Amino acid sequence: MHDDIANILVSEEQIEVRVKELGVKILERGNENIVMVILLKGALVFAADLFRAMPVKLEIECLNVSSYHGGMESSGKVEFLDQCLPDFTGKRVVVVDDIFDTGLTMQEVCREISSRGAQSVESCVLLEKEGCRTVEMKPDYVGYVIGNEFVVGYGLDYAGRYRNLPYVGVLRPEAV
Ligand code: PRP
Repeated sequence: MHDDIANILVSEEQIEVRVKELGVKILERGNENIVMVILLKGALVFAADLFRAMPVKLEIECLNVSSYHGGMESSGKVEFLDQCLPDFTGKRVVVVDDIFDTGLTMQEVCREISSRGAQSVESCVLLEKEGCRTVEMKPDYVGYVIGNEFVVGYGLDYAGRYRNLPYVGVLRPEAV
């Protein structure tokens, strides 16, 4: 698996430091009634580390959404794969995702959660792709801003694989 990586963009050590900082930043805005929402599947790894850097009584929900369908470009359509979404009445919701690319996924999810009675909705992403945003919203918490490259690892996949790499890297062309 490691042989398929051309270069590492964000190392394991960098991720560890930044994720802890993000946890602190989220709690600086308050620590009551927090519901952390994991966007499956990409945010799984990031969320697991982030939540353990937040020593407060928070709730966790998962939403199954997809827009890439295993490929390298967004389909431009966000699909909610869950049959029913939770009720977020009165909660401070923080949506967690691995990457903010066009921003379509995060925008649609935040809209949907707002319409379910949330008191507030914030967004937290490990990575933001520079110059790719096509929506008005900007993420509230960003780990690292990266260039317009297709990356894998730390939750991010290519054709369903590489999510378990402990760092974020660029695939060798031969691996695609
Ligand atoms: C990826 C990623 C984000 C979204 C970002 O999800 O995990 O959720 O795309 O792209 P956007 O900002 O252009 O909307 P994907 O559809 O690949 O599903 P996955 O998380 O299961 O890999």
